[in-house]
Amino acid sequence: MLKFFNNNVANNNVNFIWKNSINNNKQQKVRLAFMKVFDIVIKHIVFYPTSGSLSYLWGFGSLAGLMLAVQLITGIILAMHFQPSASMAFESVLRIVNDVPSGWCLRAVHANGASFFFFVVYIHMGRGLYYGSLLGPRAWVWLTGLIIFLLMMGTGFIGYCLPWGQMSLWGATVITNLLSVLIWPLDIIIVEWLWGGFTVTGITLNRFFSLHYLLPFVILALVIAHFYFLHDISSGNPQGLEPTKDLAKLPFYTYFYNKDFAGFLLLMTLFLMVVAFYPTVLGHSDNFIKANPFVTPAHIVPEWYFLPFYAILRSISNKLLGVLAMLVGAALISLLTYVTFNLWLIDTEVKRSVADLPVSKIMYWLFVANFLFLGYIGACPIEEPYYELGQISAVIFFAYWLLLPFVMAVENMIIDQYFFKAYNGTTVDPRLTRFRVTV
Ligand code: HEM
Repeated sequence: MLKFFNNNVANNNVNFIWKNSINNNKQQKVRLAFMKVFDIVIKHIVFYPTSGSLSYLWGFGSLAGLMLAVQLITGIILAMHFQPSASMAFESVLRIVNDVPSGWCLRAVHANGASFFFFVVYIHMGRGLYYGSLLGPRAWVWLTGLIIFLLMMGTGFIGYCLPWGQMSLWGATVITNLLSVLIWPLDIIIVEWLWGGFTVTGITLNRFFSLHYLLPFVILALVIAHFYFLHDISSGNPQGLEPTKDLAKLPFYTYFYNKDFAGFLLLMTLFLMVVAFYPTVLGHSDNFIKANPFVTPAHIVPEWYFLPFYAILRSISNKLLGVLAMLVGAALISLLTYVTFNLWLIDTEVKRSVADLPVSKIMYWLFVANFLFLGYIGACPIEEPYYELGQISAVIFFAYWLLLPFVMAVENMIIDQYFFKAYNGTTVDPRLTRFRVTV
């Protein structure tokens, strides 16, 4: 098998024939183009050398890819029946569900698919944070992932506006109004430009539909970039060791196909159970009422995957600061962490992850618990004690990101300077001192 890992041989053959093709006829070129594509597929999906120690958590990337495909396919078919206008959108969704053959299924798969997509990607990101996948060589993989996540949030938000129920209209109104924190006259110009009028109307709906169709393809392109950067360096692993030629590797096929396939089966079982038996469980009852600009719902609640960020937004009474905190919470903070992790950490040679450092590990799990709690607060009304609890939770959220790089740096230093020195009686090459601390 090993000879396949280094299958440059096959690759070079194709490239060689391609470049030196004496026979310039079209058929030959087409055949060679196919060979090139086939070669890439074989190299990156079949014989891709993978660390043997990857856990099931490494299957969540493929699951995210699966959910993206599900959303693209069902979305394209739904768009054939959907009518993006204020007078027809709500009814066209009813028609899809009641009259279009298998339309109920398509709609349930697409609407719940968004939730499952976010669920899978949250775990994918959590895995990355825990095992330090955002450090050093995989930084570009993380950064492209981050842009994908932001675009997913945008796509999810505008998708929720399309059925034109009460929550669609009022959700769109609340979120687009956030732009009014910009300074005058930019606030009015940008918000009205986005709305295409003086309030959220059918015109807004139409442009949201256009963007909702476009953005998933941008995400798809970014996923290819994500994959490109990942395969350039190859996947990390739970041990945190950088794969070298000495480290045992296995071909992706059949070992990780089987492992990923187990994840596919489990996810699809859960997913299809929700689709078949509880298709509306993740939705909001107000979205079964047609959008009415004269009646505001009692509580405007976004989809569950936005709740933690929504809670951060609401915990700050100043609108501008609230919006900034939410945006920073959603994105910039990870960028900041990335910079701090990679540039400020004392020893850049050793990239010990949270999984290697006991205090950081405890902090990580507290952060996860706090993030879930923020989600709970986001769904509660803004009143005592939820408002105050939300504020405390938001402070903990930001404190984690600000403290973590320093805690990690100190822990790294202690392990390098004291633990190993005391253990070995000598200073050792930090690259050899990576070890796994279990708490
Ligand atoms: C459409 C969404 C996404 C798809 C289809 C996707 C796909 C993948 C795949 C197939 C892998 C390799 C298998 C694995 O390590 O799980 C991977 C790795 C990775 N992804 Fe994603 N991803 C997505 C979103 C994200 C997001 C939002 C982030 C973070 C902000 C992210 C960060 C990473 C990192 C850091 C790795 C490398 C992990 C390692 O090797 O240690 N991805 N992704």
